[in-house]
Amino acid sequence: VSLQPFNTFGVEAKARYFTEVHTPEELKAAVNFSSSHSLKTLLLGGGSNILLTGDFNGLAIRLDLKGISEQPDGDNHILVTAQAGENWHQFVMYCLEKNYGGLENLALIPGNVGTCPIQNIGAYGTEIKDVFVRCRVLNLSSMETENFDLEKCRFGYRDSIFKQEGKEKYIILNVTFRLTTKHHSIKTEYGAIRSELNSAGIADPTIRDVAQAVITIRKSKLPDPKETGNAGSFFKNPTIPLPQFEELQMRFPNIQGYPNGDSVKVPAGWLIEQCGWKGKQIGNVASHPLQALVIINATGKATGREIFDFSTLIIDSVREKFGIELEREVNII
Ligand code: EPU
Repeated sequence: VSLQPFNTFGVEAKARYFTEVHTPEELKAAVNFSSSHSLKTLLLGGGSNILLTGDFNGLAIRLDLKGISEQPDGDNHILVTAQAGENWHQFVMYCLEKNYGGLENLALIPGNVGTCPIQNIGAYGTEIKDVFVRCRVLNLSSMETENFDLEKCRFGYRDSIFKQEGKEKYIILNVTFRLTTKHHSIKTEYGAIRSELNSAGIADPTIRDVAQAVITIRKSKLPDPKETGNAGSFFKNPTIPLPQFEELQMRFPNIQGYPNGDSVKVPAGWLIEQCGWKGKQIGNVASHPLQALVIINATGKATGREIFDFSTLIIDSVREKFGIELEREVNII
């Protein structure tokens, strides 16, 4: 079965077996099939954070669990639970229509609800950990379901237990968020949101105004995967020790950094651009002309291998120029 429709890079790769599951029971049956036939398993959510570098000689399972439920939580809050297969942006829009606040800064992020905790998705001053209550998971060793609360998920920047010790041990079935119903806390610290709202003449923004600003900003610099294959930021923004940053500042006075204790987070997009990669194309692959951190399938014909090799060239040149090791954020399969 071709996995091209199931990865936002639009890369062609085949899975030996493929199934779509709609309930936890179907999921268990699929996982049991895999283990009884000693097959490797590949979970497909929105396919927006994977790079398939070859055919998959196992069972690909597309998680299509759907549904949203709600439970009031005091005067100003509501607990909203969405099943893993709900599309993230549609879920954000659903919450906005009901005037539930908390997810508006995360509008238009590709992918599904079930994958958002894995890398603690974040943008424009918000991370899902800010509104996360728990997720329900299938434990693949016991084949029982269990809950992971905020603490147990150990969220960090683009990180959680599901990328560390818990990697490949759990499948997320649904996620519960605690959202506001009346008094929303509007987050406009992020410079681009403020300027977007200012130019629209909005002084006292609603959550929908914030979402609209985020949508406009994202559309202005991030490629739409429906038109150009990509997986958003390909690398994480690296964190380096403060002394290393100060030394780099002497050599590159324009370098940007967000200090955090003894370390500094440096925008990878800037580093990549400084190495001359922004908008550069090799074969079918390019760095996005408006945001160097995003690698695109420029012709629609790129192979996963080609994209991987392109990313290695970027890592090499950033290491050479700045002595910084970029880490891929996208899951390489
Ligand atoms: N920059 C450049 N050149 C570029 C791109 C960026 O110099 O080609 C500079 C910008 O001028 C800016 C700084 O780098 O000063 C940061 O850029 P931006 O605000 O676009 O954010 P980012 O750090 O590149 C991160 C997330 C994005 C998220 C934005 C907005 C990571 C890896 N990426 O990007 O997430 O949308 O912030 O909050 O943290 C994603 O994960 O797929 C994603 C798109």
